[in-house]
Amino acid sequence: MCGIVGYVGRSNDSTALEVVMEGLARLEYRGYDSAGVALVDGDHVETRKKSGKLANLTAELEAHPLAGSTTAIGHTRWATHGGPTDANAHPHRGGRDGKLALIHNGIIENFHALRQGLLADGVEFSSETDTEVVAHLVAAAYDERGDLTEAMRAVVADLEGAFTLLAIHADQPGVVVGARRNSPLVVGLGDDANYLGSDVAAFIGYTRHALELAQDQIVTITPDGATVINFDGTPAEGTAYEVTWDAAAAEKGGYATFMEKEIHDQPHAVADTLLGRTDASGRLVLDELRISEEQLEAVDRITIVACGTAAYAGMVAKYAIEHWTRIPVEVALAHEFRYCDPIVSERTLVVSISQSGETMDTLMAVKHARSLGALTISVCNTHGSTIPRESDAVLYTHAGPEIAVASTKAFLAQITACYVLGLYLAQLRGGSFADDAQSVMKELGEVPAKIETLLGRMDRVKEIARFMADTRAVLFLGRHVGYPIALEGALKLKELAYIHAEGFAAGELKHGPIALIEPGQPVFVIVPSPTAEHGLHGKVVSNIQEIRARGARTLVIAEEGDESVVPFADEVISVPATSQLLAPLLTVVPLQVFALWLSTAKGLDVDQPRNLAKSVTVE
Ligand code: G6P
Repeated sequence: MCGIVGYVGRSNDSTALEVVMEGLARLEYRGYDSAGVALVDGDHVETRKKSGKLANLTAELEAHPLAGSTTAIGHTRWATHGGPTDANAHPHRGGRDGKLALIHNGIIENFHALRQGLLADGVEFSSETDTEVVAHLVAAAYDERGDLTEAMRAVVADLEGAFTLLAIHADQPGVVVGARRNSPLVVGLGDDANYLGSDVAAFIGYTRHALELAQDQIVTITPDGATVINFDGTPAEGTAYEVTWDAAAAEKGGYATFMEKEIHDQPHAVADTLLGRTDASGRLVLDELRISEEQLEAVDRITIVACGTAAYAGMVAKYAIEHWTRIPVEVALAHEFRYCDPIVSERTLVVSISQSGETMDTLMAVKHARSLGALTISVCNTHGSTIPRESDAVLYTHAGPEIAVASTKAFLAQITACYVLGLYLAQLRGGSFADDAQSVMKELGEVPAKIETLLGRMDRVKEIARFMADTRAVLFLGRHVGYPIALEGALKLKELAYIHAEGFAAGELKHGPIALIEPGQPVFVIVPSPTAEHGLHGKVVSNIQEIRARGARTLVIAEEGDESVVPFADEVISVPATSQLLAPLLTVVPLQVFALWLSTAKGLDVDQPRNLAKSVTVE
């Protein structure tokens, strides 16, 4: 939510603005209702800002060019306080002389009281934002202290809420100061130039050397380096790391949209997430977990906390982990978990799942779980992000950067990592499934090639999506692990095509949802493998007959060679055979492709759907 970029270098030319604009283009997925830049120009700061997508800012810069500078900041916004207007766009200037510019991600919870104080002092505001309040406060603190780092330090002590702040001041060119609390900020270290960003995508075109910051820290970058202090003024050091992917990974690679590219990245996302998890004998090794085997063996309850697509990955994981370990697993929406008086002890393992590692609801759930004494593991795709840092251990997914707002490859990687975790716990506990862990890992290893095969067969799904561009509602049915996939299929369609879509557990059909079926109603049905336990396959085939008899248009996702569905299906989408628990890694793919092409057929923005942001860093 909101993308932030900062740059400082030696040359007083157009480089600063170019770097910041490139960073904003890479971060636009984080928020895209307005954008702006500020740079130091002689004795003042200059800003340009525009509501709407980044293209509007680019046009504004062409119409009203900026001078060269060594020092610049930029922001792409997802509005919280104040609508998405030019005036509310960041950067905001502070002080009567307007020598300071500041950008912000997050929410300042006590901004109203602070604003009243400033109004009483005669300060005039040009926006409705909480950010402008901070800009005036930092400007005033600078007037007293004559140093931007010290001014920032004085102000953050009075702020409540979550924030990343970046500021520049005309009287201190060659310096950008950043501060963070519960909101993302990473440092990029270059040669003769340094960078700040909401995530490494902001500067990946220039450097892969990064510095992770802890909570409540302030960083000051100059062309010579980065200095970190804690909010209390004590010196600190960031944690250096190398980004494992390059700029090409954050580009579209010949596809029309990031989402299409990311759907095609999925075989790699699964394969890379499996890499290095077994030793030469095939036993699972999770050295990176940093939780002792004794602690994990003592776990008697698992709670998964996540939001959106990540929560559906958690629902898939529940079926697998319970089956393999016999440990009860509960899946809680992170924003509900905190407030439902959760039952947590030191023997509870709380697994958070988050692509970004910055989702505020999930972060707060993790903190709450830790405060109650739980062990916490973060399943996360983003190095240097907050949730892994706030957890006891992390299991990274290796999906690479996911830019499209609607999650695809991260979902598959999350499910894969959760399988690995479940199998590892089964191996540790030595139950009846411990011996099976290696054979399941082997089967998982075959999944990337199966996804590849499946992706090669998506032409018909694309066609169906095109025919259905005028559809007003779509239902999705699934059972067992197919149920969360039905929910995910519906979510993708809501997010991307703005169509009313609902996912149901197929068994629930006759308890209500069947009343929705009328002639022509499209219904996707995810059919379990004919080899699935407890005769589930037959039960879902009966469900298809029930809705078909009432006029539904049935779009059936079934295992290849499953002829039993053919008489009741208007369309059959075949997926390669795999065991029941692993099937979600395949059955979700046609639903992603369907949502992508339906959105495209409607002429919508696939990568940046309306009202959404990829990383929701406010509660
Ligand atoms: C937002 C995004 C979803 C995502 C969810 C959780 O709502 O639009 O695509 O699934 O956040 O994000 P996370 O980064 O925690 O996985």
